[in-house]
Amino acid sequence: MRKQVIAGNWKMNKTHTEAESFIREVRNNVPFKGDVESVVCAPFPFLQKLVEETMDSNVEIGAQNMHFEEKGAFTGEVSPVMLRDLGVTYVVIGHSERRDIFGETDEIVNKKVHAAFDHGLTPIVCVGESLEQREADETMNHIESQITKAVEGLTDEQVTQLIIAYEPIWAIGTGRTASSEQANEVCAHIRKVVEKLSGTEAAEAVRIQYGGSVKPANADELLSQSDIDGALVGGASLEADSFLKLVEAGK
Ligand code: G3P
Repeated sequence: MRKQVIAGNWKMNKTHTEAESFIREVRNNVPFKGDVESVVCAPFPFLQKLVEETMDSNVEIGAQNMHFEEKGAFTGEVSPVMLRDLGVTYVVIGHSERRDIFGETDEIVNKKVHAAFDHGLTPIVCVGESLEQREADETMNHIESQITKAVEGLTDEQVTQLIIAYEPIWAIGTGRTASSEQANEVCAHIRKVVEKLSGTEAAEAVRIQYGGSVKPANADELLSQSDIDGALVGGASLEADSFLKLVEAGK
């Protein structure tokens, strides 16, 4: 039985004060021993405070990106060592915004996934097709290629610990959600790809989230699909009330 994981991705939003009041409300209202994992992936400047505020709660804190090197002359970058040292436990890797806007390649994504495991962080690896790719019937091949490259060199045991987020680019921030059938079809395909690459045990254990305009109103249906084990949520994760409803839907 896979535990659902609901992760909020704040992207580049909130001030320090807003982050603080959000996390206090969530921390105080999220079930302590839930059947669901709840994760808040916040901008770097808020991470330390968020980790402090969520000690002994059922909320974990994640980063939205990191460099794959441990240290060195990489101006402006943040390393996995620094994240781990702060008490951060998850990291989003290869979000489509990082791939499209910041030129992150499959090779970089693979290096970051390795670095995350090397430093005890759980990677949430994002994959997803563009509208053009979907219309050209290239979705499944594209996803298979992204997954294959992302997990290259990982042990089967590491793949078991991985979280994969299927985020169709055309559904991100557009209000246009993939139907639950569309989302589940691709998530089931991801599981088959994992099985081919890392075996049945890894395929059964790996958690696959859906992301793309998830909100409290559509979460129940998406999360009840057989191959969807959680959600990676942007816009609807920004308000504590809405985030708590999503965690509730994950139970
Ligand atoms: O990583 C979450 C994401 O890209 C989806 O964003 O705003 O459509 O929920 P949103």
